[in-house]
Amino acid sequence: MIWAHAPGRVNLIGDHTDYLGGLVLPMAIDLGTTIEGEVGGDEVVLRSADEDETAVVPLDIDDPASVEPGWARYVAGVVAEVRPSTGFTGTVTTTLPIGGGLSSSGALEVAVALALGFEGTPLELAQLGQRAEQRASGVPSGIMDQLASAAGVEGHALLIDCRSLDLRPVAVPEGVAIVVVDSGEARTLVGSAYAERRAQAEMAEAVIGPLRDANTLDLQRLEDPVAKARARHVISENARVWTFAEALEEGWPVEAGALMAASHASLRDDYEVSTPTLDALVERLTATPGVYGARLTGAGFGGCVVALTEPGALTEGWTVRPTAGARATTG
Ligand code: GLA
Repeated sequence: MIWAHAPGRVNLIGDHTDYLGGLVLPMAIDLGTTIEGEVGGDEVVLRSADEDETAVVPLDIDDPASVEPGWARYVAGVVAEVRPSTGFTGTVTTTLPIGGGLSSSGALEVAVALALGFEGTPLELAQLGQRAEQRASGVPSGIMDQLASAAGVEGHALLIDCRSLDLRPVAVPEGVAIVVVDSGEARTLVGSAYAERRAQAEMAEAVIGPLRDANTLDLQRLEDPVAKARARHVISENARVWTFAEALEEGWPVEAGALMAASHASLRDDYEVSTPTLDALVERLTATPGVYGARLTGAGFGGCVVALTEPGALTEGWTVRPTAGARATTG
């Protein structure tokens, strides 16, 4: 029997920066995906408590995106990357909202890879999961979700430099709560709009060089207003991640909350990945006494909002705790 568990993640700050070699500050959370099963056979067969149809993936799969049902594509992406020599039969259970912006797909990929016997560093596990995700979905996603799930540290968020892939655990202070609230808005157009945003930011990079090294003065060299707005988000967001990490370390929740508000405004106005529903939710949470700040988290276009609060300030949503990364046991 093999048991594998991979946590989801919430990103505290730093969105739409990972695929541009920027900075992110996610944490692995105590909601996640678990796989239990046995090695054997010549297919990977997974039943999910949340899906009607079983995932059945041949070991020699070469086009994960063509697999049905849709959720099985993520399993197929991992099979195509791990290339196990024997099959696996088991069950998947998750406490994550599916497709809600807490990286349910990233957690599934990481858990499947471990269940199929992948051995390597957390970074290698994350990179494999990222390739699987891209092959399954066709979306040019970054490394943040899988790396947060694979490399989580109990009690800490992770400051990840997505260029060097250096990772620094940042302690989450005891006196604050991190609350995730689902907007209830299904994420739509995430794939195509995500790829479009990435292309627009790369258009800016073609003119002013890597956004990671750029500053606000460089923006003057961008004539295209869309490329300029996308670049302005990335440059300002990278700066906010550093300052936010410092605010957490120093135990300054008011400053951290203000940075979350600025991040949301930038994602809304410059990167244009928010929605009226997300904006209204952020506004309502921010106006609640004891809430330091709130912002959309992840890709946007629906999904979840994350809030930094005094403990007990919000009674809705999930109060999540920073947990250790993915793990597996055989027995
Ligand atoms: C999705 C992607 C990540 C990251 C975020 C936005 O979650 O999978 O790689 O780009 O969106 O920050």
